[in-house]
Amino acid sequence: MHSENVLGEDISRVLITEEEIDLAVSKIALEIDRDFQKKEKSLLLLGILKGSVVFMGDLMKKLTVPAEIDFMKVSSYGSGVASSGKINILLDIHREDLSEKNIVVIEDIIDSGRTLSYLVDYLKLNGANSVKTCTLLDKPSRRTVEFTPDYYGYEIPDEFVVGYGLDYDERYRSLPYIGVLKSEVYSR
Ligand code: PRP
Repeated sequence: MHSENVLGEDISRVLITEEEIDLAVSKIALEIDRDFQKKEKSLLLLGILKGSVVFMGDLMKKLTVPAEIDFMKVSSYGSGVASSGKINILLDIHREDLSEKNIVVIEDIIDSGRTLSYLVDYLKLNGANSVKTCTLLDKPSRRTVEFTPDYYGYEIPDEFVVGYGLDYDERYRSLPYIGVLKSEVYSR
């Protein structure tokens, strides 16, 4: 028998169910298959650690086009309009063959837009043949820079969401759905 996940006790409501996530991942996989099946250069899925790992694992299993995978880790300091907007690369992509790759950057969520907007420029400057972006979740109301992803699953309101890779203080990433965290968890 499957017992209830104790992390679920900190969730006030499920925003996106496992089934809804699965539908969105399937839809995105079809779109990527369609866009890359006839391309001369090969596809590279570039996951941005750590939040993207669950989404990327599910997405790559649904693709029929061959895809390599790689990872980067970045951190941004400060938040909001007044912040410096500086992005630090904590784990870089060390490859000589970026000019042979069509990259799709994989994110769990877009908030201010600064991470992806920086990474697209960075990867192009480093010679990638093409760069597209993909996120499961998008919070357009939080943008501080203009940014539109090429592929996305769901637009969500500005609520504190966790699960399916997203964390609060490194917890909840393993929940199989996207849930809204109870406010007493992050205000205590
Ligand atoms: C989150 C998310 C994106 C970024 C989005 O990562 O995974 O990388 O923030 O925010 P932005 O649009 O405002 O730039 P986080 O820094 O929480 O790290 P994590 O993925 O390791 O949890």
